[in-house]
Amino acid sequence: MHAGEMPKMPIPGVQNLIAVGSGKGGVGKTTISVNLALALSRMGHKTGLLDADVYGPNVPLMLGISEAPHAIGDRIQPIERHGLNVMSMGFLAPGDKPLVWRGPMLHNVIQQFLRQVDWGELEYLIVDLPPGTGDVALSLIQTVPLSGAIVVTTPSDVSLEDARKAINMFREVRVELLGLVENMSYLVCPHCATRVDVFSSGGGRSTAEKMGVHFLGEVPLDPEVRIGGDAGKSVALRAEDDSHAAAFYQLARNVTARIEALGAPSGPRIDVVD
Ligand SMILES: Nc1ncnc2c1ncn2[C@@H]1O[C@H](COP(=O)(O)OP(=O)(O)O)[C@@H](O)[C@H]1O
Ligand SMILES: [Mg+2]
Repeated sequence: MHAGEMPKMPIPGVQNLIAVGSGKGGVGKTTISVNLALALSRMGHKTGLLDADVYGPNVPLMLGISEAPHAIGDRIQPIERHGLNVMSMGFLAPGDKPLVWRGPMLHNVIQQFLRQVDWGELEYLIVDLPPGTGDVALSLIQTVPLSGAIVVTTPSDVSLEDARKAINMFREVRVELLGLVENMSYLVCPHCATRVDVFSSGGGRSTAEKMGVHFLGEVPLDPEVRIGGDAGKSVALRAEDDSHAAAFYQLARNVTARIEALGAPSGPRIDVVD
């Protein structure tokens, strides 16, 4: 621990806490978080999903959850859906009302999500962060030990520019980077099967290489992914051999491999060279 740092308290029962961040909004952070969590769960890992995007909590929509969680005493019970334990601000404040947060309130709600929810025994807890490098990420990073962070970007220069900031933020606060995911990498034309690089191509991989972080893979721009998300039937509910779901299972395998290579969050770090 470094001077001035608070001790970080693990969440009882949770083995690996993984933050999913991005520099920019709209790059597919929630889509990646939800489908990664579903893929991990379908691969046999007990998984939870914390929607920490308190400004735009979209996880309830993408998982088709409309009920509110109940409490036992002062313990909040996560909603169970598709084998996942899920918590979101969207359960508590549904509808279109904007949520305005000030720093201390924001910190409190994140701490409640971490400490007052009965997460149960989880191998992975995926945390969908708000875009950017703000207070939610800091509240999380400063108070719980993270196994690592995933940064989501599209191949466009504007998204990559912001992704580099997110990577540098995690570095500054000494959070292990599991790697960079390039979402909306390309579109396979449904008519002629030609690959169309809508937002340019290759920028995720080259940025990862330049910054010395792992490249966790490409997720294509796929209308089925959007339709599944909007309908509460995210594509990773489908089997691994489904062409629309495959990229998310590959991502899940890459993430678990990174976690295994790193070892326990508080244990010795092994540098992976590939
Ligand atoms: N790979 C993809 N293919 C098609 N649509 C996608 C893909 N990733 C995200 N989307 C869509 O783009 C929109 C923004 O994604 P979202 O996950 O909400 O982004 P963020 O959480 O970064 O703001 C959503 O409508 C989502 O369904
Ligand atoms: Mg989102």
